[in-house]
Amino acid sequence: MVMVTFITPPMRERMVIEVPENSHVTLLNLMEKLDLSRFCTCGEGKCGACAVKVMPLRRNARLIHMSEAERRELIKAGKMTREEIECQVLKDIPPKWRLACQYEISDEPVLVAF
Ligand code: FES
Repeated sequence: MVMVTFITPPMRERMVIEVPENSHVTLLNLMEKLDLSRFCTCGEGKCGACAVKVMPLRRNARLIHMSEAERRELIKAGKMTREEIECQVLKDIPPKWRLACQYEISDEPVLVAF
């Protein structure tokens, strides 16, 4: 199991959920199940409305794949610049912002803020 921790200003406490590792569940699917999704969404990585901050909770976290389409959408949504993304790729640092509909839960425990 992998821990996914949600934190958002309206919550008084963090919500910690255990999810089977590599279950291929997206963050958006999980958020909808938990009734945390406040987004009006396309679910296909095309609207940018589901952008959330995703922070790994382990040192040396593996870079979790981000498609070029997701990068383009995050830039379009004003969450990241092309330069920030290229710098993170070069330094092998996980990107700060992700699209919840595109981010599949892996074996990395993460903190999700929105
Ligand atoms: S729901 Fe539209 S980009 Fe994620």
